Amino acid sequence: MSKLSAVDTIGILTSGGDAPGMNAAIRAAARTAWARGVNVKGIYRGYSGLLNEEIFEMDKKFTTGIISYGGTVLYTARCPEFKEKEVQARGAEICHKHGIDGLIVIGGDGSFRGAQALAAHGINTVGIPGTIDLDIGCTEYTIGFDTAVNTAMEAIDKIRDTSASHERCSIIEVMGRDAGYIALWCGISAGAEEIIIPERYDGNRLRLLNQLVEGVMETHSKGKRHHLIVNAEGIGHSYGMAKDLEEATGIETRASILGHVQRGGSPTAKDRVYASYMSALAVDLLCAGASNRVVGYRNGQYVDYDIDEALSMRKDVDEYEYQISRMLGRSIYTIG
Ligand code: ADP
Ligand code: F6P
Repeated sequence: MSKLSAVDTIGILTSGGDAPGMNAAIRAAARTAWARGVNVKGIYRGYSGLLNEEIFEMDKKFTTGIISYGGTVLYTARCPEFKEKEVQARGAEICHKHGIDGLIVIGGDGSFRGAQALAAHGINTVGIPGTIDLDIGCTEYTIGFDTAVNTAMEAIDKIRDTSASHERCSIIEVMGRDAGYIALWCGISAGAEEIIIPERYDGNRLRLLNQLVEGVMETHSKGKRHHLIVNAEGIGHSYGMAKDLEEATGIETRASILGHVQRGGSPTAKDRVYASYMSALAVDLLCAGASNRVVGYRNGQYVDYDIDEALSMRKDVDEYEYQISRMLGRSIYTIG
């Protein structure tokens, strides 16, 4: 009789920054595996836990009641030494020792490089994009982005109330290590006047300050009493920017850095559902004998790519969306 699955035991780990929806991904991966007759082992603390053999037999109870929790019940870690070839070989040996012949890696590009290395050592691997930053080239969706944006949007709505009451300017810094997607989405959804993102910043702080001053003075002169600026973490300097802007405009300006609050909280329905489908697909790929793959979501479909190809794919903020977001922030004042 032919074997139903190409793998007997899958391992699941979460790596890099946590993201709301990772638990939904763990749950779906484990339950899909069990439905296919495949054993599941949990690996705590990403590659660091793999190297320390923090590996356990996952049972059904482990995945019960976790779908609505933020964070990751497998914990996560950054493990810089996993970039070293000998360490990767040791990671593969540990997988073999524990009977893990398929591995699900939930994380970002860095985590996928680890999965790529393990695949080269004979462990079948599939990556699932989990990061609030949305900065993975091969996919239009990453686990956690939707929740993070909604959390940040609600915070900005609150800042708007106090900013408007004091007739102030507010700079709100949102996460995104090198990417402006959270800033762009929050800026549009919270109705910010300005959105500053690394993808459209040339590094000239003085020019940026002058643009902000011009924008604030323009809307102020047309009757607007408060001004919201969403700044991406990749640009940073929000406190200094607020001080410089206040000095230049004479308008009271405050900065708020939203920080890690954006990474927590119960995941939105979208994050739970997309995470569940992508994880099921990842397990089915392993069962079909695939390796060195990353799953994603593009053009309305769940898809998968070779990790090498996925890592070479670049994406940029859509220019039309960026221009529209800027126009919407100010248009009511410029037309009339
Ligand atoms: P993300 O996965 O969100 O991009 P990081 O870049 O911090 O987050 O990477 C997470 C982990 O993935 C690292 O701590 C390391 O263990 C592993 N990793 C990152 N880069 C590589 C690499 N070039 N080769 C092997 N493993 C890597
Ligand atoms: O990659 C996700 C992210 O939240 C980035 O937006 C941010 O720059 C980084 O992780 C923060 O990492 P840490 O939690 O290690 O400070």
